[in-house]
Amino acid sequence: MSNPGDGAAATGQKQEQGQAAAQGQTQAQPPSGPHIQVTKSGPYQVTGHIPLDEQIIHQVHLHNEFMPGREIPQADVYSLCRCGGSHNAPFCDGTHMRNHFEGTETADMRPFADRIADTAVGHTMTLLDDDRCAYVRFCHREPGDVWQLTENDNNPENRHEAIVGVSQCVAGRLVEVDKDGNPIEKPYQPEIVILQDQPESVSGPIWVKGPIPMTSAEGKEYEVRNRMALCRCGRSDDKPFCDATHVRTEFRDSSVKAEYEQPRERPVGFAAKSEAGAA
Ligand code: FES
Repeated sequence: MSNPGDGAAATGQKQEQGQAAAQGQTQAQPPSGPHIQVTKSGPYQVTGHIPLDEQIIHQVHLHNEFMPGREIPQADVYSLCRCGGSHNAPFCDGTHMRNHFEGTETADMRPFADRIADTAVGHTMTLLDDDRCAYVRFCHREPGDVWQLTENDNNPENRHEAIVGVSQCVAGRLVEVDKDGNPIEKPYQPEIVILQDQPESVSGPIWVKGPIPMTSAEGKEYEVRNRMALCRCGRSDDKPFCDATHVRTEFRDSSVKAEYEQPRERPVGFAAKSEAGAA
């Protein structure tokens, strides 16, 4: 498995394969369709020709929007850095082996429906919340946050804004359902998006869009979701998912490091917003 324009990752993977063979492990053949394999304290191995893009989160008035980032080379298969140390971000360059990355998956693997921690009940829909937050803040809209908007969804503008905000919750923390329990959102086409967070001056997680199966390093299947955010800073306590630690640790990947190496003023009120639980 190789990355566009970088032989170092392939070298690192060959070393890992050699180690696996030496330990008597067999390398499973990846599925033919879109798929993400989390490797043991290594990268995400992506197969099935999934489009790879970069998007930049930027702020417009009181809400965030996405704008296109740099063009990233496309490939049938590629490995995405999970340790945060690659010099060829977003791709793996084998750094995880040199920095002894500890990537044990700690996330609760139960389906979303079994992990719901909170709900907001409106007149026409209900907001389900599992509290798995990547802090991309699309839940804050101009007229209010999506919890308030859902509770006041008898106003059509509130209902529309809540649905838009929730469908852009990259972590899949938030799901709007109708009164029959059906999700109110369009399925995304399979795509992987590398996020950069301009207002926070940090690099963000990997946004997995659309129904892409993902297998743990132990060979267990995660629930297939329409939205997931994967950690690529290496510091999440909820691996493989992002838990917003990249903001606190000011993670900047190698593609933006120089750009952000200026003294930075954290936006006033960040702590308060974070405690409020932005999605
Ligand atoms: S990228 Fe968000 S916690 Fe690592």
